[in-house]
Amino acid sequence: FSLRQHNTFGIDAKAHAYLPVTSVETLHALRSDAAASALPRLVLGGGSNLVLTQDFPGLVLHMCSRGREIVGEDNDAVYVKAAAGENWHALVLWTLEQGLGGLENLSLIPGSVGAAPIQNIGAYGIELQERFHELTAIDMESGELLTLDRKACAFAYRDSIFKQRLRDRAVVLDVTLALPKRWQPDLRYADVAQELDARKLAQPTARDVSDAVIAIRTRKLPDPALIGNAGSFFKNPIVTEQQRNALLERHPQLVNHVQPDGAYKLAAGWLIDQCGWKGKSLGAAGVYEKQALVLVNRGGATGQEVVHLAQAVQADVLARFGVTLEPEPIFI
Ligand code: EPU
Repeated sequence: FSLRQHNTFGIDAKAHAYLPVTSVETLHALRSDAAASALPRLVLGGGSNLVLTQDFPGLVLHMCSRGREIVGEDNDAVYVKAAAGENWHALVLWTLEQGLGGLENLSLIPGSVGAAPIQNIGAYGIELQERFHELTAIDMESGELLTLDRKACAFAYRDSIFKQRLRDRAVVLDVTLALPKRWQPDLRYADVAQELDARKLAQPTARDVSDAVIAIRTRKLPDPALIGNAGSFFKNPIVTEQQRNALLERHPQLVNHVQPDGAYKLAAGWLIDQCGWKGKSLGAAGVYEKQALVLVNRGGATGQEVVHLAQAVQADVLARFGVTLEPEPIFI
């Protein structure tokens, strides 16, 4: 089974077997099938955060469940529940149509609802965890249904329990979000504030913020339908204040932001850009012209070509800045 249409990098890897999953019953049935449940598993949503480095010798579970609804409210929030197989951006637009703000900064992020908590998607000052209420998952080892709240998901920057202890074990079935009733635009991120300013929107609605984010993303990030990519390829590295000060002395332009704990987040895109990689290629894998943090498939790239390019970029950034870049997508 070819996975080329099922990963946004457009890598032409094959899977031994493929199963579309529309409900939890499919997963219960799978657990009672000894041969099928012995295979290695890959849970696939939109395929927008993975690098297929070779053919996958197991079973791909493609989450295709549908459904989204308002499930309740209290004084603070309206609760929206969506099935894992729903498209994330379509959900964002649907909440805006319902007059609910809160997800607008997360507009146009590729991928599915079920994948959103795995890496705690984030953009323009907001992370999923800030709008997250709870999720349901199935533990494929015990067959038990789990309800996990925000704390149980152990969210961190582009990380959660699903990339750690529950990796290859839990399959997310649905996600419930808490959208704030007293909505305020979140304009912490300068790019968004500037875009709204340019549009002369002094008191923007949630829809205005969404439109601004869509415009910024469209300018900076390649559309995976046209150019294969998995969004940011590396996490923005976190360094100590001491390291940041030492770097700043040698590189006064260093892009850095202080974190709540006093550490500093550096812009990986800037570090890669400084190493001269922007717009360059190794084989059919390249560094995107407009945003050095994004690796792209220039046509027919293999997973190995992407890995080689990533390693070359990491080696240069380490040699020049003494900083190790950690990949953001999951490698299969
Ligand atoms: N920069 C450069 N050269 C480049 C790219 C960036 O100098 O080629 C500089 C920019 O000028 C800016 C800084 O680096 O000062 C940061 O760039 P940007 O605002 O584009 O954001 P980012 O740090 O590169 C992160 C997220 C994105 C998210 C944006 C906006 C990570 C790994 N990436 O990117 O998330 O959309 O902020 O919030 O945290 C993703 O995870 O796939 C993703 C796209």
